Amino acid sequence: MVTDLLHGFPQGQHIPGDGVTAAVLTPFMAQGAWRQPTGPAVQPAQARPSAEPSNGTPLLRIRDLKVSFDTGTHLVPVLHGVDLELARGETLGVVGESGCGKSVTWMAVMQLLGSRALIEGEISLDGRNIANLPQKAMTAIRGRRIAMIFQDPSSSLNPVKTVGKQLMESVTLHRGLKGDAARAEAIRLLDRVHIPSAAQRMRSWPHELSGGMNQRVMIAMALAGQPELLVADEPTTALDVTIQAQILDLLQELQRDTGMGLVVISHDLGVIAQVCDRVMVMYAGRVVEKANAAELFKHARHPYTQGLIGALPDLEGPIRRLEAIPGTVPAPTEMPAGCSFAPRCSHRMTRCQHEQPVLMAAQGHHFTACWKPYS
Ligand SMILES: Nc1ncnc2c1ncn2[C@@H]1O[C@H](COP(=O)(O)OP(=O)(O)O)[C@@H](O)[C@H]1O
Ligand code: SF4
Ligand SMILES: [Mg+2]
Repeated sequence: MVTDLLHGFPQGQHIPGDGVTAAVLTPFMAQGAWRQPTGPAVQPAQARPSAEPSNGTPLLRIRDLKVSFDTGTHLVPVLHGVDLELARGETLGVVGESGCGKSVTWMAVMQLLGSRALIEGEISLDGRNIANLPQKAMTAIRGRRIAMIFQDPSSSLNPVKTVGKQLMESVTLHRGLKGDAARAEAIRLLDRVHIPSAAQRMRSWPHELSGGMNQRVMIAMALAGQPELLVADEPTTALDVTIQAQILDLLQELQRDTGMGLVVISHDLGVIAQVCDRVMVMYAGRVVEKANAAELFKHARHPYTQGLIGALPDLEGPIRRLEAIPGTVPAPTEMPAGCSFAPRCSHRMTRCQHEQPVLMAAQGHHFTACWKPYS
């Protein structure tokens, strides 16, 4: 089995579904700060320079990204043309229920989908198309220019090596440091992710650390190559709510201090609301809405996004029944004709059952793929 050198993540592995857990309204959101971004609680998110990509070359640009898996007898399309741009220093949230194509999008960027995946489209890093780079060239990018962390740190860390050894290996692999220099850098990285007594922790085994500590180790490993872009795929899903908030704070702090681009993937809009400048909502392998975070939470236009927001508990407002979106995401082999959300949509019209809506500018940098006029 080919393994991602940085994180021990097997290539081509079918990423298990995340399951949709109830989003919890965090203290940050409870202050209403995610709707009315004022006051000190939102300072970190507001301190970033721009909520939109700059006019210069974006750090990452994806055009019409399509992914299909070869079953041996036929191709099953799972991504149907994803477009996005990410500026340096920007935090992009990618949200959608399990099975919507969030992980596949970023695994395609990293070329971690294995040989059964057919990838089409453009993926440009700093203006250079990396979509079809040979694996050897990709190893110079993976971990060094783009790093990725996953939901479950315990399955990404090697259980039979101390965290210090694993971290030193990453530092050697990506930066060429060896011996004392690698050790010093590994300790600095553990310290950077606020692991107490970093030098002593170098001797710890992954099973001796809590889930939150292991996720910090994973983040330290991701930082070893000083990446320009960090992709965090459900980084807090396996953690309890308090630790989740600490990890999100850490990611924000690192993003702010290093100026790297940050992508946070989550099925939980509550998580996305806490850290992101811009949000991209995915449904059934498509982007259905894209907007500045504050704009999206205030004026969600797509019925799916509205449904995700309606399912969020609101600690501030009056007690209300949470509205779950009826039904489930269709399997790639059972995609309905027309709008893929139509079977679950209370606004569907005749047109929706025949024509797939494309992403259109609704207002400024707010895009949505829905035939329903906004009211
Ligand atoms: N290696 C694979 N082989 C076949 N199908 C896959 C593979 N990886 C993901 N898929 C399918 O692609 C779709 C999108 O999956 P994924 O990106 O993991 O969803 P998400 O991350 O949004 O939960 C799902 O229907 C999933 O079953
Ligand atoms: S296009 Fe139609 S079915 Fe699809 S989300 Fe919009 S209103 Fe609903
Ligand atoms: Mg996923």
